[in-house]
Amino acid sequence: MTPKRILTGDRPTGKLHLGHYVGSLQNRLKLQYDYETYILIADVQALTDNFATPEQLQANIREVMLDYLAVGVDLNRCRFVVQSMVPEIAELTMFYINLVTTARLERNPTVKDEIRLKGMDASVTAGFVCYPVSQAADITSFGADCVPVGADQAPMLEQTQEIVERFNHLYGKTLVRPEPLYSNFGRLVGIDGQTKMSKSLGNAIYLSDDPATVTSKVMSMFTDPNRIHGTEPGQVEGNPVFIYHDAFNPERERVAQLKKLYRRGGVTR
Ligand code: TRP
Repeated sequence: MTPKRILTGDRPTGKLHLGHYVGSLQNRLKLQYDYETYILIADVQALTDNFATPEQLQANIREVMLDYLAVGVDLNRCRFVVQSMVPEIAELTMFYINLVTTARLERNPTVKDEIRLKGMDASVTAGFVCYPVSQAADITSFGADCVPVGADQAPMLEQTQEIVERFNHLYGKTLVRPEPLYSNFGRLVGIDGQTKMSKSLGNAIYLSDDPATVTSKVMSMFTDPNRIHGTEPGQVEGNPVFIYHDAFNPERERVAQLKKLYRRGGVTR
């Protein structure tokens, strides 16, 4: 039986961080053994909000590739695609933009969030609003059966499915309709406790950070703002330190014990 094909990818906007690891990389490492895997370095998509610094994106392709190798992406299992090296993807995007309305593009919740977070507002470009269409071209170019998605990428897949349906309806059933593969963890909060770890928010721990940097970032983490002293009871729910423990600490019992202590005000250092 031929395995199903998945396509995933990242924008090379910087080095990858723990948010990427929790939200997608960890899942890919498992999936690579069950699926034919394509991993796309989306440098053309990254241009949509980094068009002023193309050389930077170019340099990041190497960094992202190194991060992939460092986490254990298996070169014998995965195929890598640098998006700009397949110009047909951009060509296909040009055709697909006729199959979506601008109103639909403007409704995309992930794009809306990004516009707000990056303070784009009136300066938002047509290219940026259209990037979900280029993502549909990525996915369909490789005939992916499935796309692993966290919370962020679900709207992109819905957009892709709509384009596929429209295309198949108009021109005959030619395109594979990709299905989402939901990952189990999703989003990781930043070290500042904001909803999302991201380079632009400056709250990330990078996969390539050295131990001293990781330690200093962890020591400066946002915790429970109402707990001034270690002897005061603290809140575990929504506390980034404990979210990280749950995500990365394999010693479950020790974590449970720490949570108990913290709730009682017994973690004094
Ligand atoms: N939009 C994705 C991100 O920001 C990157 C991406 C580009 C992608 N093309 C894709 C993901 C195709 C999955 C499938 O992380």
